[in-house]
Amino acid sequence: MESADLKIAIIGAGRWGKNHVKTAASILNPQNITVVDFSPQAEKTVKAVNNNIKFTTDLNEILSDKNISAAIVATPAETHFDVAKQLINAGKHVLIEKPITLVSEDAKVLLELAGENNVKIMVGHVLLYHPAVLKMKELIDRGMMGKIQYIYSNRLNLGSIRQEENILWSFAPHDISMIQFLTGKDPVSIDAKGAAYLQSDIEDTTLTYLEYPGNIKAHIFVSWLNPFKEQKLVVIGEQGMFVFEDSIKENKLRFYPKGFRDNQGRLEVFDEGVFLLKFPEKMPLTEEHLHFYDCVVNDKTPRTDGKHALKVLEILEEATEKLKKTAVTG
Ligand SMILES: NC(=O)c1ccc[n+]([C@@H]2O[C@H](COP(=O)([O-])OP(=O)(O)OC[C@H]3O[C@@H](n4cnc5c(N)ncnc54)[C@H](O)[C@@H]3O)[C@@H](O)[C@H]2O)c1
Repeated sequence: MESADLKIAIIGAGRWGKNHVKTAASILNPQNITVVDFSPQAEKTVKAVNNNIKFTTDLNEILSDKNISAAIVATPAETHFDVAKQLINAGKHVLIEKPITLVSEDAKVLLELAGENNVKIMVGHVLLYHPAVLKMKELIDRGMMGKIQYIYSNRLNLGSIRQEENILWSFAPHDISMIQFLTGKDPVSIDAKGAAYLQSDIEDTTLTYLEYPGNIKAHIFVSWLNPFKEQKLVVIGEQGMFVFEDSIKENKLRFYPKGFRDNQGRLEVFDEGVFLLKFPEKMPLTEEHLHFYDCVVNDKTPRTDGKHALKVLEILEEATEKLKKTAVTG
């Protein structure tokens, strides 16, 4: 089968789900897409994207349709487990939005069920489909910066406040996923601190500290109570430093050959300016869809498979435990 012949379902066409609908309709035959949502507003949204996309409020229509081989789950996180479980049990490959589930025990059940039903789980950690992140990973693996020493990521904004989750769960899955990908390792220690000002017991800002094997350290600073938008990841290495700044329009990916070298027992600074790195101008969500369809049709393991997503979730859970001990509510 060619990817273009795939028949898929998209469950949930809300704020983010509608991006999945638009993206799927730009790749697949719109007649091969069925959207499921409870809300009457969602039907209007879907038909505005393309009138040929099918719409239903009944998930059972998808579960019983043998021609639909894959589904995208873009419902609120608390429903991921229930919706994905039904789809997997019906033999559908699933692309689940992040976080895979709210509890790692549930994610483990999904992974097991996927194995039993011989279907793929991919999770929408969309930054691992960003061409700049892939370029940075390729250059790091080719040794451009030497050994990674330190990584930090700022994901800051004014707004996008949620009531069902704190800033850690809303923003940090992206940063955790990228740091896991770049290091290729799992953390040996996790700590987190945060503070809640706008809503009782829901952190507006958190600082998560991760330690990886080989003396690699990282921190993630996320906030929705910040005067400006910033999405900046900095990777410090022995022979240079990468900056991936997704919140600016141009020169998002830069390499600074800067640092310190040993000169006969003395540390000497070196500073060779900055390289502005080019990468293919592709939309991360489109790349994510193409990867999912390729994995389904050609039986490949997704880059952000269930295992990757489970690890991200376990890190979130441990960070949450640490937060509970430190959060200040005012
Ligand atoms: N990857 C990213 O960058 C990114 C960005 C934003 C949101 N998300 C994720 O996308 C998911 C959806 O977020 P959102 O902001 O679009 O939420 P939303 O509340 O705006 O939309 C959810 C939609 O799902 C529908 N829905 C709820 N339960 C359903 C069910 N059981 N069956 C069918 N439809 C159902 C609702 O009617 C609504 O239209 C969340 O998991 C969120 O974490 C990911």
